[in-house]
Formats: sequence, C-alpha cells, structure tokens
Amino acid sequence: MTKYKKFIPVNTPLLNNSDALAVFKAIKSGWVSSEGPDVKEFEIKLAKFLNRKFGCAVSSGTAALEVAIKALGLKKNDEVIMPSFTIISNVNAIIKNSAKPVLIDVDIKTWNIKIEDIEKKITNKTKCIMLPHIYGLSNDMDKILKIVKKYNLYLIEDAAEVLGLKYKKKYCGSFGDISVLSFYANKHITTGEGGMLLTDNRLINKKIRDYRNLCFGLKNNRFNHYDIGWNYRYTNIQAALGLNQLKRIKQIIKRKYEIGNYYYQNFKNIKDIIIQPPKLSYCKNIYWVFGIVIKKSSKISAKKITQKLLKKNIGTRPFFWPIHKQDALKKYSYFKNLKLKNSEFISKNGFYLPSGLGLTLKELKFIKNTLINILK
Ligand SMILES: Cc1ncc(COP(=O)(O)O)c(C=O)c1O
Repeated sequence: MTKYKKFIPVNTPLLNNSDALAVFKAIKSGWVSSEGPDVKEFEIKLAKFLNRKFGCAVSSGTAALEVAIKALGLKKNDEVIMPSFTIISNVNAIIKNSAKPVLIDVDIKTWNIKIEDIEKKITNKTKCIMLPHIYGLSNDMDKILKIVKKYNLYLIEDAAEVLGLKYKKKYCGSFGDISVLSFYANKHITTGEGGMLLTDNRLINKKIRDYRNLCFGLKNNRFNHYDIGWNYRYTNIQAALGLNQLKRIKQIIKRKYEIGNYYYQNFKNIKDIIIQPPKLSYCKNIYWVFGIVIKKSSKISAKKITQKLLKKNIGTRPFFWPIHKQDALKKYSYFKNLKLKNSEFISKNGFYLPSGLGLTLKELKFIKNTLINILK
C-alpha cells in the first residue's frame, strides 16, 4: 500500500463560509474585544443548550479550570480528587491555586476515573472532585453525585472533550457546581482557542466573572482592584465564530459519531486492541477522538504502529501521559511511589487516530485499511 497523497493530520477542523462571514461581520461591527455583544449571546445560548443558568467565556479550557478552583474558594492544602489519566490542565489548576491534587486510577474499560477507588482517598481535607469525561464517554454521574453529596464536596465537571454528550437524558456540562468547556481547534465547537465555565449559582458566577477580568474595583474606583485576578477574557470575534457553529451543533455531534462509529465497526473484532465501548447503560459514545490501546498480547508495539502510520502519511497522537509520572510535577512529593496501573498501561500503549470533523470518507477508508494491514 502506497502512502496517502497528502498528510492526514490528527485533527482537521471543518469551518465553512458562513463561519467566515460571522467573523467578518464581527470585525466590521467594530466589536473585537471581550466587551462585544456576541460574547454575551454565546454565553447565554450555550448555557441554555446545556440547561445551565450562567455561562462565562474565557480564553481557554485551561484558564476555565484555574478560575473554577479559585471561584469555589479552595484554599491552601484543600484536597481535590481527580484521575491520573487526563490533560495536565486539570492538575495545573489545582496546584496553581495552592490546593493539593489527589490522584485516582482509571477504569480499564472506559478510561474514566475508577469510581470505586474514590472513597478510599477521601479525608477531612477533601473539598472537591475534578472530573474530566474522557474521549467520548461520560462518567457514571449518579454514582459520582452520590459521593459528592455524601461527603459534601464540590464538583468541577470537565466537559472539554464532550460537548453534546448525554448522561442519560442530561447533557454532560450540566452536572458540576462548575462545569467547563474548551473551544480549542480539535473540539466540537472551535474558536481557535477559548473555553467556558457554566454554573447555576449566581454568587459563583459573579466570582468567575471577576476572576476572569482582573477583579476590577467594585465601587467608585474601578482601578482599585479588590483581589488578584487574571485577564482570561474571550474576544467578540471568537464568540461570533462559536455562535455560528452552535447553530449546527447537532450536525457536528452526528458527524463526529459517524467517524468514530466507522472506526469502531471496522476494528471491533481485532483481538490485540482495546477500544472504548460504543455505549454504556447510561450513555452513547460520541467519539471526541478514536483511541486505541495495544494489548500486551500484540506482536507490535503502539510506537511501531504509529511510526508505520506516519510513513503512510497518517498522523496520530499518543495518549495523555499519567499525571503522577509528569516531569513537571516531580518537585512536588504528592505522587512519590504512586502506582496507578491502568493509567500507566493505557498511557504507554495508547494512541488516537485522525478524528477531526474535516476528515473525508476517502481518508477514513485509507486509515482503516492501513491500520488493519499493520495489525494483521
Ligand atoms: C479534559 C480536558 N480539559 C481541559 C482541556 C484544556 O483545554 P484548552 O486546550 O482549551 O486549554 C483539555 C484539552 O484538550 C481537555 O482535554
């Protein structure tokens, strides 16, 4: 099999003329900064879509997580429980706010947090669970909410990867005291960069808005700031682009599902790989990306496979590296000697395939055939 005529990147966004026109109109209106009307409209419409009272757009999903911890008033050494298999943004947000991350392994089937291990790690310092939904599957929210209620914890729900995914009848992003989204280029709705915090609590919403925007003075002296905040504002140009995609969100989710389901149907019987299930009793996979873990029984390693794919012009990404193995965090003693075997196993042996909305059927078929050939 010869290589594909041009490189197939791991993500290709799909933006159209009406998106370009929306951006053009925003620019021509003169509203380019965060003060513009499209920012408010995007916040209101997305919050409505997810059945939340308030939305607050920020400059990235990473920024959203930092603001979330701050707005919940977590203090030095307050413990936040999170899975080890996720993006580093989760742990960064905790550490940057001087709180303490407590890591849990993930379930080998869903790659989401191993719920049965959570209670073992709860202490009287535990204040919060930070919960990403990984790749396309929801966490079991009834079980999570039961723990949150029992121990009186906050829940920060990280729905960055799963806009449009439902847990039972409710959208992910509707469960957290604060839920967060990302609009990076590989997300369902992309505005290049960007993120949003969602909450139903008026007071928390007020804090989120203040921390996003430098905590400007409250009364008659605007420039006498009442606390240390960030400039994590989001621009009107980005919001115009986001709003236009929101109109076709159902179509976007459908297309993502079609790509993931195509891979699933073609790979489900290959014995040396682990893939996320297409559905669980409480949700249907929406396949943000299509991840593959190579089993120990395989004659060929994940690294070798991705090298072979690259030679055929197919891009891939390795999985997240476990948080407890991050060089950046070695100076903290939190995770010394910690062993979380599922997180370590899937990180070492996992990669994902091109899954962007702009992928063509021809590219999909080529990727499928190439991988099947490699795994034969
Ligand atoms: C679960 C999760 N949370 C947060 C983020 C960070 O979002 P951003 O890239 O917008 O900072 C990502 C990014 O992919 C993510 O996967």
